Amino acid sequence: MTEIFVAKADDLPDGERRIVTHDGVEIGVFHWQGMFYAYRNLCVHQGGPACEGLIMHKVEDVLGPDRTWHGQRFSSDEVHFVCPWHGYEYDLRTGECASDRRLKLKTYQVIRRGEDIYVRAD
Ligand code: FES
Repeated sequence: MTEIFVAKADDLPDGERRIVTHDGVEIGVFHWQGMFYAYRNLCVHQGGPACEGLIMHKVEDVLGPDRTWHGQRFSSDEVHFVCPWHGYEYDLRTGECASDRRLKLKTYQVIRRGEDIYVRAD
């Protein structure tokens, strides 16, 4: 079992991410609202660096009781990162592709030991 050092906790503040490499595999490690998440930096679409994309709240439609469209807003709880190549969006907390939840980035366990953050590569 291989553990890869990611960063000191102070060097990875909430809202930030790091890309680490192990045996030629890139892993994106996110710190979001007190939790850490790690995914392979390989988009399920065409292999782009998904973890390097913009982080943004999900854009959702606002519908009236009769299902008429009243515009859009940012979700208060669901956050995505967006693959910079063609825009596939991934749920930051699960690694699932937002448009098709059957598609998912490979996930990795993140371990915190004191002030040190590691990701388990195997
Ligand atoms: S490679 Fe990521 S959206 Fe196409």
